[in-house]
Amino acid sequence: MARRKYVVGNWKMNGLSAAIADAQAIFAAAKDHPGVDVALCPPFTLIGGMVAAAPGAAVGGQDCHSAASGAFTGSVSALMLADAGATLVIVGHSERREGCGESDADIRAKAEAGLAAGLSVILCVGEPREVRESGGAIDYVLAQVAQSVPDDFDATRLSIAYEPIWAIGTGLVPTVADVAAMHGAIRGALTARFGGKADDMRLLYGGSVNGDNAAELLGAGDVDGALVGGASLTAAKFVPIVAATAALG
Ligand code: 13P
Repeated sequence: MARRKYVVGNWKMNGLSAAIADAQAIFAAAKDHPGVDVALCPPFTLIGGMVAAAPGAAVGGQDCHSAASGAFTGSVSALMLADAGATLVIVGHSERREGCGESDADIRAKAEAGLAAGLSVILCVGEPREVRESGGAIDYVLAQVAQSVPDDFDATRLSIAYEPIWAIGTGLVPTVADVAAMHGAIRGALTARFGGKADDMRLLYGGSVNGDNAAELLGAGDVDGALVGGASLTAAKFVPIVAATAALG
């Protein structure tokens, strides 16, 4: 099955209720590019309002707890996301791996919870700067993939986002050759472990993607789309990324 292009906005901890109008503008403009799946992951507080304001649009969470419910103050379960109208969830973002001490085992459990709740899951991996500089980026990321990707899943609902930590929010990006090498290595490892079903898994690139560099970065081999932070907050910045992705065919 051909993989559809996928462009996802991660709003991180940005957005009050007035920002729902920005989401509506993004989803409305995205209709001009029916060949690209577009999703937004706002803070938990905006999910319900965004779903109500943009019926049928793909809205997701930025994290979930691995348990369905219980005494976990401040956490939100995958079932709760689905109940609020979300259809996807990001797990394993480096800002949670590093800032909240999440391990590969934690992320695998969260991915399993998301899939069990019927959500699509975007599982993030990516190396810190010193690992890139020492030449160990591919080994580092393949270890994250090996330890955080579950054993059993619907491949059309599990995507991997390669987000080099040093490229997030910095304006720095890897070379196209480095992106292609990393995505090729991830695809190879998934195929070795899962066989043909790995062909259905989408591999996204994330880290300082904008309207100017999207065509080049997303044109690299084995890149099926983008996970976008800062440039996903407004239609003016995000829609050009969607358009550039659509133009890649
Ligand atoms: P930026 O696009 O702001 O670099 O963020 C990338 C990211 O972390 C998306 O999850």
